Amino acid sequence: MNSVEQLVVTAQADFLAAPDAAALENAKAKYLGKTGQITELMKGLGKLAADERKAQGAIINAGKEQIENALTARREALANAQMLLRLNAEAIDVTLPGRGRSLGGLHPVMRSWERIEAIFGSIGFEVADGPEIENDWTNFTALNNPENHPARSMQDTFYIDGKDATGLPLLLRPHTSPMQVRYARRNKPPIKVIAPGRTYRVDSDATHSPMFHQVEGLWIADNISFADLKGVYLNFVKAFFETDDLQVRFRPSYFPFTEPSAEIDIAFGSGPLKGRWLEVSGAGQVHPNVVRNFGLDPEQFVGFAFGSGIERLTMLRYGINDLRLFYEGDLRFLKQFN
Ligand code: FA5
Ligand code: MG
Repeated sequence: MNSVEQLVVTAQADFLAAPDAAALENAKAKYLGKTGQITELMKGLGKLAADERKAQGAIINAGKEQIENALTARREALANAQMLLRLNAEAIDVTLPGRGRSLGGLHPVMRSWERIEAIFGSIGFEVADGPEIENDWTNFTALNNPENHPARSMQDTFYIDGKDATGLPLLLRPHTSPMQVRYARRNKPPIKVIAPGRTYRVDSDATHSPMFHQVEGLWIADNISFADLKGVYLNFVKAFFETDDLQVRFRPSYFPFTEPSAEIDIAFGSGPLKGRWLEVSGAGQVHPNVVRNFGLDPEQFVGFAFGSGIERLTMLRYGINDLRLFYEGDLRFLKQFN
């Protein structure tokens, strides 16, 4: 092996040993740089005789070419390795499940609200909406509440500072019953309406929330009786709970705005709540004083009203025992209904 061949072997080994691009450029300088060994050999050619210079020049050039080829090969190898490293680091595991985009869903109380509208809509009830901030006359007085009735007390009702334009005290409505008055004063009989919406009371435990939902029902015409109330409500709960296997009981009660008055209880014939009577609603024949406050003649117009708790209906439908779960915003709970 002549010295050029020796140089080529050493250079090839040096290049292969270079771990990265910077080390490779340093190694290159040792052979091809200004003072590199190949460069020095070229400089030495001048001292040789012409024919020898020609032969030696060819050998050196061949060696230089081999070294340059080795350099290029190593450069490419290092670049490829670098690329592989990056590809691995940025690799996407296409077998992982996609993150997707989560879809919203209806809150279980809203699902009940929509079911209630659909069921009553199917038997000709209109749907009405009204203010959550109500005045004292519409909420209490028009509904035949005596001036010092305990429901007016601060314990039950959230009062609001200030009065409305006519000087009436304002409050957050504790029930949807004022919607009877608002709707009946604006519409001519026959009146057949439900009014679902938010209600507020100073109340908080497993079955009472400070904000909850009720749905008011009102049917006033010349001949609407308590028997109609029973028929309509029985049909409603059968449709709502999707079963015929239940009983509805009208338990005598008292509300100032109905006479006679009842609480409506239901009992399922099977399932976890089998045989237990549970209150879902207040109801009754609208009191003549209230019909008068509708602007109607109570001798001519009669009918029923009811006010049901939507959370309560929802708890029974899904077997939920604590209504506060509805308002904690825990997705693990809420996702079960979608
Ligand atoms: C009333 O509110 C009457 N306005 C109902 C009525 C309407 C009677 C029309 C006659 C004619 P009561 O206070 O019982 O009645 O409430 C009715 C329903 O609302 C209850 O059966 C219950 O299901 C629900 N409810 C009452 N308070 C709360 C509360 N704090 N949290 C959740 N649900 C409640
Ligand atoms: Mg009650």
